[in-house]
Amino acid sequence: MTQPVFQIEDLVIDLYTEQVSVRAVDTASLSVMPGEILAIVGESGSGKTVMTLGPLGLLPEGVSVDIRGSAVCGGQSLLNRSDRVLAGNPRVLIADEPTTALDATVQAQILELIKDIQQQEDIAVVLITHDIGVVASVADRVAVLYTGRVVESSTVAQVLTAPVHPYTQGLLASVPNLRANSNEVPKGIPGSSPDQSRLRTGCPFDTRCSRMLPVCATQRPALIPVPEDGIHVTACHAAQAELESA
Ligand SMILES: Nc1ncnc2c1ncn2[C@@H]1O[C@H](COP(=O)(O)OP(=O)(O)O)[C@@H](O)[C@H]1O
Ligand code: SF4
Ligand SMILES: [Mg+2]
Repeated sequence: MTQPVFQIEDLVIDLYTEQVSVRAVDTASLSVMPGEILAIVGESGSGKTVMTLGPLGLLPEGVSVDIRGSAVCGGQSLLNRSDRVLAGNPRVLIADEPTTALDATVQAQILELIKDIQQQEDIAVVLITHDIGVVASVADRVAVLYTGRVVESSTVAQVLTAPVHPYTQGLLASVPNLRANSNEVPKGIPGSSPDQSRLRTGCPFDTRCSRMLPVCATQRPALIPVPEDGIHVTACHAAQAELESA
């Protein structure tokens, strides 16, 4: 069976500075297969950078990092090693917000360039962005991140046309050009991400969720498969209840 080129499992990353301690990555799992373009999408502060660069030892100085779980790149474990220098040629390119702050034309050029590199070099790409609008044209698969956790992941087509997690649905509702009726005012998601320096039980999205159930306050939703959708997974009690009653 084909092995992923980059894979994290149950990854937890706590960051400590003199001022704060933050659980930046909270039991996150994802994998990138050879030659595929995986987009990681989430609001600023959702853990995109720490989750991907943390295991590679590429976080800024002045912050202490405690990493648990597993992270593998090119068949080599990235954790429990002092050098974190990868031997050989792990065929993965990590592009962290490559189009942020660029105008639409240059943004399209950069995305084309990433696609060209992926095809010519036959490498996998991890495309990190806070803008779900940029993934449609380039990525094969999307992982949606919220407070350091993967809340939904599937093919781009599935996530963009049939999202099941309330956070993904909210993200999409705030992107005008992805919606059928583009005259609508973008709705966005009310509220802001919770303080990640306070560890809590329950679903981290409960403070902003219109579909919250009593169980959401007390139990962390686990990542479960969305049946008949192949690789589609989500972590949401309401979505799970709907799937079970369907
Ligand atoms: N150098 C740092 N020192 C302290 N906290 C940090 C540092 N870098 C990131 N964080 C915190 O870790 C969390 C995840 O950040 P990050 O991975 O940079 O988010 P994203 O890339 O999705 O915008 C946030 O709560 C952020 O405040
Ligand atoms: S688990 Fe509950 S609070 Fe969290 S997104 Fe789903 S319905 Fe909303
Ligand atoms: Mg970042």
